[in-house]
Amino acid sequence: MSFSRSSAQALKQAVKFAAPASRQVARRSVSVLARQAPKAAMGANLGAVRGVKTLDFAGTKEVVYERADWPLDKLQDYFKNDTLAMIGYGSQGHGQSLNARDNGLNVIVGVRKGGESWKQAQEDGWVPGETLFDIPEAINKGTIIMNLLSDAAQSQTWPEIAPLITKGKTLYFSHGFSVVYKDDTHVIPPKDVDVILVAPKGSGRTVRTLFLEGRGINSSVAVYQDVTGKATEKAVGIAIAVGSGYCYETTFEKEVFSDLYGERGVLMGGIQGMFLAQYEVLRKNGHSPSEAFNETVEEATQSLFPLIGKYGMDYMYNACSTTARRGALDWAPKFRDANLPVFEALYKSVKDGSETRRSLEFNGRKTYREDLQKELDEIDNQEIWRAGKTVRALRPDSGKDEL
Ligand SMILES: NC(=O)c1ccc[n+]([C@@H]2O[C@H](COP(=O)([O-])OP(=O)(O)OC[C@H]3O[C@@H](n4cnc5c(N)ncnc54)[C@H](OP(=O)(O)O)[C@@H]3O)[C@@H](O)[C@H]2O)c1
Repeated sequence: MSFSRSSAQALKQAVKFAAPASRQVARRSVSVLARQAPKAAMGANLGAVRGVKTLDFAGTKEVVYERADWPLDKLQDYFKNDTLAMIGYGSQGHGQSLNARDNGLNVIVGVRKGGESWKQAQEDGWVPGETLFDIPEAINKGTIIMNLLSDAAQSQTWPEIAPLITKGKTLYFSHGFSVVYKDDTHVIPPKDVDVILVAPKGSGRTVRTLFLEGRGINSSVAVYQDVTGKATEKAVGIAIAVGSGYCYETTFEKEVFSDLYGERGVLMGGIQGMFLAQYEVLRKNGHSPSEAFNETVEEATQSLFPLIGKYGMDYMYNACSTTARRGALDWAPKFRDANLPVFEALYKSVKDGSETRRSLEFNGRKTYREDLQKELDEIDNQEIWRAGKTVRALRPDSGKDEL
């Protein structure tokens, strides 16, 4: 896939989806403050004016980096002497390594032999002895060591991995977890290497599918240790190489706190709990499973949440009836107040390391895959999600976009 083509597609996509109202909002709120291109260039070639810039995010100025700043030839030239060693082949390892490979970078994969990942990597075209190695061999061959083992495995394998991270290599993570919670993980990077982070804000599967669609995931980038003075540009370059559309700056600590908090909250745990509570009350009051599911999940995911995603919360409200608007406006503060203490407790549990210790203990078990699967099967068996299968099968486009 050509890089410029994917940028152009992304642009086309953005223009296609932008409603007139949202374009005006975007024009009003985004003020480019740094590295602004001459006015004449604007409009003629949007790619040329995009790049590193400081944007105004609701009154706070932040630096962002865009894919347009790293055309494919620059990316390939920058990393021409590097070998990206992808250690681990879970959902992030899969998405990031395939994207970097498709972008023409020199990528190898390192996983334990005989495991699930070894099998999956081969299915994706990584060849044992050529581009697929066991972990120590891949680290020895790599210059940029991308540690994308599970967070628990990063801690368990660190005693064997640490001596192989020699001077001149770069150590890369997609989560601040191991380094920030070093008292629990014992992951302490060697002093003489750059240590960088690119954290895609989505699942590894999305990292791959957005890239294949010519779009890009948003990622945060951070530098923990800058020995060469080039750690930031390296992090941004890799972020683009693995499929990011744009990246914003953070620190290892801020990344891990916000990430652990977000996934336990609204992104996963919070929404699961809220869906279930709403569904249960409807069922207790005599509503059928199809009605309870449609009023809780289907309308949210198929109609209202995509509107929030595309145009914002106020747009979603405006798309609904005045009856709905009045009631939702009245109840939103009650939900906020009820949830606030739970979110406060969650952030504290993240910050004091409780969430990390729980994760290290559970995901460090030999049976971690089976244990997790058992709990996921229980969810799958809940009435709400069984009802969901029937509802989804009734969609006219059912089966056309199976995962
Ligand atoms: N998934 C996401 O949505 C996401 C998003 C952003 C950042 N991240 C971060 O990206 C990193 C990777 O996450 P992930 O979800 O892609 O992977 P994951 O599912 O958490 O980890 C899977 C990988 O770890 C390996 N592994 C597990 N235990 C091992 C052990 N004891 N020894 C050697 N290898 C072991 C697995 O190999 P086997 O198959 O051999 O078991 C597999 O390759 C993490 O730091 C995560 O926090 C993830």
